[in-house]
Amino acid sequence: MNITAMYFSPNGNTKKIVYTIANKIDENFKSIDFTPPENRNNEYKFRSEDLLVIGVPVYAGRVPNILIKFLDKIKGENSIAVPVVVYGNRNYDDALIELKNILENNGFCAIAGGAFIAQHAFSKILAKNRPDSEDLAKAKDFGKQIYDKLSTSHEFKSIKVNGFTPVREYYKPRDRAGNFINILKVKPKTKAEMCNNCGICVSACPMGSISKENPSDITGICIKCCACEKKCPTGAKYFDDEGYLYHKTELELEYTRRAEPEIFI
Ligand SMILES: Cc1cc2nc3c(=O)[nH]c(=O)nc-3n(C[C@H](O)[C@H](O)[C@H](O)COP(=O)(O)O)c2cc1C
Ligand code: SF4
Ligand code: SF4
Repeated sequence: MNITAMYFSPNGNTKKIVYTIANKIDENFKSIDFTPPENRNNEYKFRSEDLLVIGVPVYAGRVPNILIKFLDKIKGENSIAVPVVVYGNRNYDDALIELKNILENNGFCAIAGGAFIAQHAFSKILAKNRPDSEDLAKAKDFGKQIYDKLSTSHEFKSIKVNGFTPVREYYKPRDRAGNFINILKVKPKTKAEMCNNCGICVSACPMGSISKENPSDITGICIKCCACEKKCPTGAKYFDDEGYLYHKTELELEYTRRAEPEIFI
């Protein structure tokens, strides 16, 4: 079989998990990164001899909504898929089943699926340094189990994963009074005096939303992936929206338990 690893990964953790799984199935796997916006213009077609390991981060308990149109352009022809979601220690809710359903509506059969944990993009402490060695060992073992399944069976059935169909609403944070916090329009700010115009944030933004001429200017949609903030070498990018910061702190206080990867095979 030809193995392809595909991923959206502004901060690199989803990529790490998807690579670890794919590499255990066949170290000669191909890879397609659909994080840069220009890579989401293409359509991708897979055939019956193809196995696609595809990963996305969990945003608001679901597949990031800005990816849905693109994911619908990935077509299989009785192809095999392994959907993978990576979340920040709160919950993956319906993200895995949503990704599985999208693939299965487009000609794939999901023979395995997994939910893994990564440091939450919003936080410096929530699930810090994950995926760690234990997570990566579990991802390797998952890859090995997929390899064994492929070697021993010829007819594949779709697996069951956790979650609901139809999928539930996007997870919405609430404030102290129980009112919903809307962070949709929140964008990062820039300490102009600290910005040296290196352009790292411009290339890191998966929405192509940071102006090349003036990196302080966020010209398009911001999905709060935090890649610009994390990758800025001078620490010039920051968020100061009250609702966003409240939500971040609440997550850090509430989700201190260690969530563990879950695999379905
Ligand atoms: C906008 C946004 C929403 C998120 N929502 C959730 C969530 O509902 N549950 C959760 O556990 N983690 C959530 N996270 C954390 C991400 O799933 C985590 O940061 C992600 O795995 C990072 O992937 P990457 O390193 O490949 O970019 C969210 C992160 C962002 C940026
Ligand atoms: S501007 Fe928004 S979408 Fe772009 S990298 Fe920064 S946080 Fe992510
Ligand atoms: S990464 Fe930081 S220093 Fe570089 S252009 Fe962006 S804001 Fe400026």
